[in-house]
Amino acid sequence: MASVVFAAAPRLHGLRLGERLFPPKFPTTSAPTRFFPKSIVCQISSSSSAMQVSEVVSEKEIPLGMEPTMLDEYASQAKLLQEFTKIPSVDKAWIFKSDSANTSRAMFSMSQANLLANKRRKFVLSSHISKPSKRTVDFQWSPFPTEMTGVSTIVPSPSGSKLLVVRNAENDSPTKLEIWGLSQLEKEIHIPQSVHGTLYIDGWFEGISWNHEENLIAYVAEEPPLPRPVFNDLGYKKEGSSEKDCDSWKGQGDWEEEWGETYSKKRNPSLFVVNIASGEVRAVEGISRTLSVGQVIWSPSSSNGCLNYLVFVGWSSENNLQKTPRKLGIKYCYNRPCALYAICNPYQERHVDTLDGNIVENSASPIKLTDDLSSAFFPRFSPDGKYLVFLSAKSAVDSGVHSATNSLHKIEWPADGLLQQCANIADVVPVVMCPEDSCFPGLYCSGFLSDPWLSDGSTMILSSYWRSMQVILSVNVLSCKVSRISPQDSSYSWNVLALDGDNVVAVSSSPIDPPKINYGYHVSEQSSTWTWVDVSTPFLMSSNKVGSLLSEHKFSILKIPVSNPSNDLSNGGKLPFEAIFISSKDGASNLTVTILHGGPHSVSLTSYSKSLAFLSSLGYNLLIVNYRGSLGFGEEALQSLPGKAGSQDVQDVLTALDYVIDKGLVDASKVAVLGGSHGGFLTTHLIGQAPDRFVVAAARNPVCNISLMVGTTDIPDWCYVEACGTEGKNYFTESPSAEYLTLFYEMSPISHISKVKTPILFLMGAQDLRVPVSNGLQYARTLRERGVEVKVIVFPEDVHGIERPQSDFESFLNIGVWFKKHCK
Ligand SMILES: *[C@@H]1O[C@H](CO)[C@@H](O)[C@H](O)[C@H]1NC(C)=O
Ligand SMILES: *[C@@H]1O[C@H](CO)[C@@H](O)[C@H](O)[C@H]1NC(C)=O
Ligand SMILES: *[C@@H]1O[C@H](CO)[C@@H](O)[C@H](O)[C@H]1NC(C)=O
Repeated sequence: MASVVFAAAPRLHGLRLGERLFPPKFPTTSAPTRFFPKSIVCQISSSSSAMQVSEVVSEKEIPLGMEPTMLDEYASQAKLLQEFTKIPSVDKAWIFKSDSANTSRAMFSMSQANLLANKRRKFVLSSHISKPSKRTVDFQWSPFPTEMTGVSTIVPSPSGSKLLVVRNAENDSPTKLEIWGLSQLEKEIHIPQSVHGTLYIDGWFEGISWNHEENLIAYVAEEPPLPRPVFNDLGYKKEGSSEKDCDSWKGQGDWEEEWGETYSKKRNPSLFVVNIASGEVRAVEGISRTLSVGQVIWSPSSSNGCLNYLVFVGWSSENNLQKTPRKLGIKYCYNRPCALYAICNPYQERHVDTLDGNIVENSASPIKLTDDLSSAFFPRFSPDGKYLVFLSAKSAVDSGVHSATNSLHKIEWPADGLLQQCANIADVVPVVMCPEDSCFPGLYCSGFLSDPWLSDGSTMILSSYWRSMQVILSVNVLSCKVSRISPQDSSYSWNVLALDGDNVVAVSSSPIDPPKINYGYHVSEQSSTWTWVDVSTPFLMSSNKVGSLLSEHKFSILKIPVSNPSNDLSNGGKLPFEAIFISSKDGASNLTVTILHGGPHSVSLTSYSKSLAFLSSLGYNLLIVNYRGSLGFGEEALQSLPGKAGSQDVQDVLTALDYVIDKGLVDASKVAVLGGSHGGFLTTHLIGQAPDRFVVAAARNPVCNISLMVGTTDIPDWCYVEACGTEGKNYFTESPSAEYLTLFYEMSPISHISKVKTPILFLMGAQDLRVPVSNGLQYARTLRERGVEVKVIVFPEDVHGIERPQSDFESFLNIGVWFKKHCK
């Protein structure tokens, strides 16, 4: 669940339509249709030879799951989808100061789907930025991007004079760290698997930090594999064995918990420091194995110069607050308790003193900095080193929901570096419970820049969800003032990429405008208003076709009043929610697709999504509902949903639908519904609870039977909290009683299955640990048993998000064709 299911969908690259466009990698459960004609004669005229080629395609040559009447539709939609897949995404940027005033250089890390290789292609594009006057900016782009083959991530040093390139190991090869200078490779360090596994380069545990002297790099990597028992034909081998010994084999040893969905084989993220000059790698000592670590940064040098700390986030694998002695899934889950820790001089030799004949090791153990808070992460030091600022998801941890409103805090960092166990934590931005109309709704951040500070040393620039948009905020950590600096009159979504001194490089986009780069600056020191200019980018050229396809569409954000708010609701729970409406050029008479995000505590933003833009270009209207419980609307609205999943959220979607029907924006007889995860829960609930309102549906890894899910998911606590509300946290156990299983069943779409008649397409990832494929399959098989038209596609290697390029392509192509087939 919990994914912004479509917002971050990868962009795809083209694919030629061949005879076997969809090789049956895995048997789908749909049988070929009986009335299928024995052969089709295709006439292909070849202009060069002017010769007619006739080809007879027999039944068994038609790919599995393709219907003869829809072949032309498949072909034309596949071609169209290619146009959308070509657009690259801008993932990160770094800005380097130049010697000359008013100029700087930028490096953009971008990616594009590579369908044939079923991976994303990563590349770097550079630009020279000049500001000849206060009000103009000019980007000179390098002629071509450079592909980064085999590169896992890059991290420039603080001064910008060195670049760390990480090449993570595949299989048994070593991990490679490369240190590049301005024009050549300076050092290459190979680290065998016996020292550590792959570096964490994304997700919760990601952390790579250069120290200020640029001679050490701290990072997080998977601990080396633990020794496993070795056997041979004489039985157990006490001595162990060398890898090359072929007369023995390794057993498994004890099973260890992992961190769940997308974190398989991630058991113990651990801290390491590499000395660049010597190439030596050391594990940081003194950290318990029950603590998974991430997000490491170096502290500023202390005034006496001899105390250097590594600050990092630690998650206890015992999950103590959640009363279960196991790791629970962490992907999309901000409710896992975590704290900031500091460890002193991690790269110094430990002194071994001899006292009264006993050996005493002078080993430092980490100091827990945030004992009073249930959650602390994204640590950043202020440029003067006086404050350590961090984000907290304490409202998620304390209430048990997987994501909620964030708060921002700071700790004063002692100038002498002498840290106390219990630091005094001050609030910078508190949780917003019930925002006033159109005012700041609270912080909802998915990350911070590595250097988020303006030159005053106290203003942070960050991106945050603001109702159905993402906006850029400035937060002064001294005065605690929060201002929205991206344009107030824009419904686009904005995301900060990097700071260029006191100026901001950002990406903006809308559902119908692919991402573009913007440059923001202050006109004068006194004024608080920011001016934004569009930066012309070479990579926009490739999207002209998509641009013209979408140019006749319109989008707006609708404010939808809650219907029949119940008395037990908080004030925030009665506030209007929102929906994003994208109208096609043909208007109300066409099919309208209701789109529902996962979570439920996630949000659909007005940012560009390849998949949704593709669906609008097919002529569909899109109604994207941010039902109550979504992020970005204040804490009370969010907390109104747990305990009412499957009723309040379902009602909000129907209310949104009534709203657009009443306004004459859509034809009530041509409505489809599409959602993944919790959005799939809503999709299957809607076709059960309101069977007459939807002509067609599609669900991606849907939750259909919570009583089945609770025993198979990596986040069983989710089932309790969403079904029972916040108290569910206290009832959670690994072995639910029959009473709870009954409650879970009653709150699930499966309890309404007898009313379903809407044809539905299922798209599922066989490796999904969040909502295992059994949930969707059980529901789909029951529908088949009852004679409802069902199509099922299972992607054998995919996880919950179904984001691998080929799977994503096949998913949305099939959604497009399935809707076309059923909306005549
Ligand atoms: C830099 O910009 C300032 C004003 O923003 C201008 O006065 C100055 O001439 C510029 N310098 C150069 C070298 O372009
Ligand atoms: C949308 O409606 C127009 C006119 O009503 C029709 O020509 C067009 O084919 C429809 N498009 C789709 C995708 O249904
Ligand atoms: C839902 O899941 C439970 C637990 O696995 C199972 O006993 C029940 O049969 C399922 N419901 C249906 C209708 O399949």
